[in-house]
Amino acid sequence: MDSREIAESGTESTSMRDVMCGELSHTDIGRTVSVCGWVSRRREHGEHLAFIDLRDYTGIVQCVVDGAQELRSEFVIQVTGVVRARPDGTMNDRIPTGEIEIGDCAVVVLASAEPPPFGLEDRSDVDEQIRLRNRFIDLRRPRLQRNLRVRAAVNRAIRSAMDAQGFVEVETPILWAPTPEGAREFAVPSRLHHGTFYVLPQSPQLAKQLLMVGGVDRYYQIARCMRDEDLRADRQFEFTQLDLEASFVTQEDVFRFVSRAVLDAAEVATGVRPDPIPTMTWFEAMDSYGSDKPDLRVEEKLVDFSDVFANSEVRAFSAPVVKALRLASSATTTRSQLDAWTERAKEIGAQGLAWFRVVDGDAGLGLDSPLDRFLSADERSALIQRTASVEGDLILCVADEWRVAAEVLGSMRSMILSAPVGEGPYQYVWITEFPLFDGVDADGNPQPAHHPFTMPHEDDIALMQSDPAKVRSQSYDLVLNGWELGSGSVRIHRRDIQSSVFRSLGITDEEAESRFGFLLNAFKYGAPPHAGFAFGIDRLVAIFVGEENIREVIAFPKTQSGSDLMTGAPSSLSATAVRDLGLRLTNPES
Ligand code: AMO
Repeated sequence: MDSREIAESGTESTSMRDVMCGELSHTDIGRTVSVCGWVSRRREHGEHLAFIDLRDYTGIVQCVVDGAQELRSEFVIQVTGVVRARPDGTMNDRIPTGEIEIGDCAVVVLASAEPPPFGLEDRSDVDEQIRLRNRFIDLRRPRLQRNLRVRAAVNRAIRSAMDAQGFVEVETPILWAPTPEGAREFAVPSRLHHGTFYVLPQSPQLAKQLLMVGGVDRYYQIARCMRDEDLRADRQFEFTQLDLEASFVTQEDVFRFVSRAVLDAAEVATGVRPDPIPTMTWFEAMDSYGSDKPDLRVEEKLVDFSDVFANSEVRAFSAPVVKALRLASSATTTRSQLDAWTERAKEIGAQGLAWFRVVDGDAGLGLDSPLDRFLSADERSALIQRTASVEGDLILCVADEWRVAAEVLGSMRSMILSAPVGEGPYQYVWITEFPLFDGVDADGNPQPAHHPFTMPHEDDIALMQSDPAKVRSQSYDLVLNGWELGSGSVRIHRRDIQSSVFRSLGITDEEAESRFGFLLNAFKYGAPPHAGFAFGIDRLVAIFVGEENIREVIAFPKTQSGSDLMTGAPSSLSATAVRDLGLRLTNPES
């Protein structure tokens, strides 16, 4: 979708202008028009005339104006004149309005402008700090105009998909209590109740479950969420979710609701409706791709060699699991590159990274590697055959516990083979049956993989106390091109199961009462079975428009270190404001 297509969807003339700059074409020749916008470029034309490129969000139109008039870059002007064909030889086929210009122009300066701190040509390579400090100028660039408009179109498509499926939009509080997603929270001190704090919601998770108890049945919200976590390309402090929850539904119903919203949004943003989204269990994703967010644009899968090396002489491979990843046509990979990958593998938990170059020897295909001399003939030929390797390929191996071997090779797979996330084709996949618990806290208690209200898999409830690590959950993620787009689960609506999960998590009755008492209390009064989901709209739009960082689809984002360079936030408060809030700063100078 480009800005012209979006513009065509609803601009009407106003009393200041009757057409948008980028909409004019040869069919308008002879028409007297008024356009408004910013001076993009000025070129002198003989002694008395000047060419002005006038810009609004739809594009640029050339206006021939009186050269005596003071019109500099980024002046805001209204131009009234007659559309005419450009003289032969002066057409510009690089812009859609390149065949025409506006002549006999009367110009009204609506606002003068100082020279902008950076050029607005789309490709100009401007320091990001300068762009963010002057975001209001940066936003005039076609790329950001397009991003914001695609985002609006995506929101529109999502709203109408949810509406068509019987969901009702309900707004939930921003000044709220702790929520359970597990990130650090932002807090707002209360002026009226000194020493107490509102907590900004990490998501509307608890509110939407209460809405289900409240009989809303199908809720959705394009919801702003706040998490105080380390920022990176796919994370901001403030981000937006399509958040939904529904009563009397199963996981499959949720997939249907979310798919409709995501596929409608994709169609609007990219012009192509994706195929129905396939599903894959968490185990399969980890085992075959080494990731719970596999990038399915990359076909290469991990290959298991645990059986082959079960009784091997190769000391490096004496581990419960040996997995391999084939890198096709990698004969030119240098030794220093291999060393760097080995270092990386160690950083993320492997003992080492074994590599084998597939070479053409006297007796057919062979392997070139420091480990080759330890391999038996069977092991050598298994490595080559099971990975379907040919001369010039490279085989990377990790031997370790299942999860470490899979995750390390999975991360090599995405680091070495993945294209930038926004590059098509778009490969969606539902990941199902996540473990209920993932890792342990400082006290050795299992931690919830999703959140503590996630329903265990029906078949695994009996294992909850005896073997918690084996318990699967009824939770699911949506993944696109290797990014986690969203997560959700069937929720626990039965008190006995909820208590059992809290017990496994080491959450005492008192703690559960103090953290989530209001939800647990509500559940006493008739909670319907319910399930829900939330996906990140910033991430979805970034992928659709081919951006690597969600900052580019957010009007006023924060920097990596969490600052808003334009407003200076976060900034200090006056001494009075601090006092009114009942706070005392330990180091007011810093
Ligand atoms: P979860 O915590 O997985 O689930 O979040 C859902 C989706 O929100 C997006 N997201 C973010 N986007 C940008 N910046 C961030 N800091 C950030 N954090 C999360 C991601 C993520 O997949 N309440 C549950 C959902 C549910 O169970 O219904 C929740 O919030 O795209």
